[in-house]
Amino acid sequence: MGIYQVRVEENKDFDFIQTLIQFAFADAEYSDHQEHFLVQKLRTDTAFLPNLALVACDEQGNIVGHIMFSEAIVDKTKVLALAPLSIAPTNQNQGIGTTLINVAHEQIKKLDYPCVVVLGHPNYYAKFGCESAEKFGIQAPFEVPEGALRVLLLTNDIPKGVIEYARAFF
Ligand SMILES: CC(C)(COP(=O)(O)OP(=O)(O)OC[C@H]1O[C@@H](n2cnc3c(N)ncnc32)[C@H](O)[C@@H]1OP(=O)(O)O)[C@@H](O)C(=O)NCCC(=O)NCCS
Repeated sequence: MGIYQVRVEENKDFDFIQTLIQFAFADAEYSDHQEHFLVQKLRTDTAFLPNLALVACDEQGNIVGHIMFSEAIVDKTKVLALAPLSIAPTNQNQGIGTTLINVAHEQIKKLDYPCVVVLGHPNYYAKFGCESAEKFGIQAPFEVPEGALRVLLLTNDIPKGVIEYARAFF
């Protein structure tokens, strides 16, 4: 597939994004299959970061991937939480997820957060320099598969403790 455009999501995209997310997670192993509702809830949450809600488009302008971030708290410090990341099933394994993470990372580096936390497959996120959160004393507020909670360091001074996710996650 050709070059993708990555842009901030717009209101007119919301219905399409919701369907894309539902399909993307339909066969995902560690999923409650509620991610498409989570995205809707997050958009109304004060922790939501609209400028980091990005879509990847194919050459025809069709949306083929989506990424979203929200603020979370660790030990009274604001950090970023990446969730969810969704690529349309027929477009997976073509580098779109990688592109979305890299574009978002460029934006995030300009902001003032110590780290990004993400729940996902360790091998996938390790490619982006994400390390085991356990190693840094960061824990999820719920049970997660071993090694699934990762952290991307943006500074050397990161907080320790249990992540307080945005209300939309509960
Ligand atoms: C996981 C996901 C975001 C990856 O995005 P993608 O655009 O398909 O992946 P990329 O093309 O950027 O990267 C491909 C690499 O990731 C690996 N990969 C793809 N999906 C993976 C998964 N679910 N778990 C682990 N590794 C995965 C591929 O094996 C490939 O590895 P390689 O580079 O060593 O060959 C996408 O497949 C997806 O939306 N899956 C369903 C929803 C989901 O699980 N989201 C993640 C929740 S955090």
